[in-house]
Amino acid sequence: MTDVFEVDRYDAAGRLGELEVPRAGVTVETPALLPVINPHLQTVTPAQLESEFGAEILITNSYVLYGSEDLREPVEEQGLHDLLDFSGAIVTDSGSFQLAEYGEIDVTTEEILDFQRRIGSDIGTPVDIPTPPDASREQAEDELGTTQDRLATAAEVETGDMLVNAPVQGSTYTDLREEAGAHAAESGLDVFPVGAVVPMMNEYRYAELADVVAAAKRGLPESAPVHLFGAGHPMMFALAVALGCDLFDSAAYAIYARDDRYMTVRTTEHLEDLDYFPCSCPVCTSHTPAEVRSLGADERERLLAEHNLHVSYGELRTIKQAIRRGDLLELVEARARGHPAMLDGYRALLDHAAQLEETDPVSKDTFFHLSGESARRPEVVRHRQRLDRLDPRGDSVLLTEGDAHEDFDECWNVLPPFGPFPRELADGYPLTAEVPERLDAPAYEAAAAGVARLVDAHSDTEFTLAHDDWPASALAGVPDRVDLWNLRGGE
Ligand code: GUN
Ligand code: ZN
Repeated sequence: MTDVFEVDRYDAAGRLGELEVPRAGVTVETPALLPVINPHLQTVTPAQLESEFGAEILITNSYVLYGSEDLREPVEEQGLHDLLDFSGAIVTDSGSFQLAEYGEIDVTTEEILDFQRRIGSDIGTPVDIPTPPDASREQAEDELGTTQDRLATAAEVETGDMLVNAPVQGSTYTDLREEAGAHAAESGLDVFPVGAVVPMMNEYRYAELADVVAAAKRGLPESAPVHLFGAGHPMMFALAVALGCDLFDSAAYAIYARDDRYMTVRTTEHLEDLDYFPCSCPVCTSHTPAEVRSLGADERERLLAEHNLHVSYGELRTIKQAIRRGDLLELVEARARGHPAMLDGYRALLDHAAQLEETDPVSKDTFFHLSGESARRPEVVRHRQRLDRLDPRGDSVLLTEGDAHEDFDECWNVLPPFGPFPRELADGYPLTAEVPERLDAPAYEAAAAGVARLVDAHSDTEFTLAHDDWPASALAGVPDRVDLWNLRGGE
């Protein structure tokens, strides 16, 4: 792997980074959106993407150009940047997607990489095999073997200063995805797309998507730039970034526009169902839905594609600012509340909290506890691990949500969802958390797990827990030998 990616700041596994694309002579800020350009039919031109949307990178399909009677010669003569009129980085896909859709393509990895290099692509792609979700184990292993052979071929052919994608396949088998990630990293190639996830996203299977991406990431080194192939809906960008994806390509902005679909960060709307545009982009502030409906098909499609791009780029800016500030998980949570399938995705993300914790900064903007899910965030996991390194002094210790008490050798605070901590840590992240007055059971249960962790590690110490009327489900998690005081009275 060449050293082309640098991370500036993390939040969970999400990161702000810079991808250096030597052949284009540009550095792309990540997370980045790569609009898919159809060389034959483009409602929003690459030049417009560059000037109006600030696009630094785009993706197009070299296989379409290779097989095109009218474009193959011009692109071989002029080169891609000139043909498309785009000065940023251009990624070329290989035809693997056509392979998945139509079963066969008539080009080899050597041929297509050579073509990509000759037409001036900045990041090329070998012919990987996108094994769909739920394929048999045998098919997934077999096709992954073929993909791995093609990566080896790609590493051998002369590609000059063109970077090369090393797609990670493995269908829905997380162990295969992890192995594929490790193998791809060893190939010496440069950028790592997680492949064949389009069918999963089309079916709103965001929980499995999260598991697949988390698995691929376990196989890849932390420093590897990761592309989520075919991920074009802004509703899932925050989730995918939090998992550690850096690049997204969107054909959806154009495909959706073609059949009158309007994207938002929560969902997809049909133009015919809209009385109001819930967006402040130039399209939405200068037209009403009724006006757009009354336009001809081409103009309507162009305006919807522009709106879809505005929301997509806007969401990426929102995400970048969230990483800068350190509230990416609050953003993921907000997006998760927009659609039940996204909530599944967020819950699956939190199944990997220990993995996310590895890169999560020790200090961020104030932790907001927003739901039961917040109790499973990496910061809570980390606090619990940290308890193993903290020793209460003395024989009798009070853990309390209320005031200190002189009858004990030492008094620690207790804050759901984190659990107990020495008072001197109260001003540090994440214990400065904002939590609602009306807390949910999972927050208390998580705090009880923290109490149990501390108590179990100190068998010679006597513990008393003074709690603010915790629910039975939380108290059940507190070890029996802990004395319980209910600060609201009662037992
Ligand atoms: N576009 C969407 N998914 C894929 C994939 O798995 N491989 C390639 N090469 N392109 C894709
Ligand atoms: Zn808009």
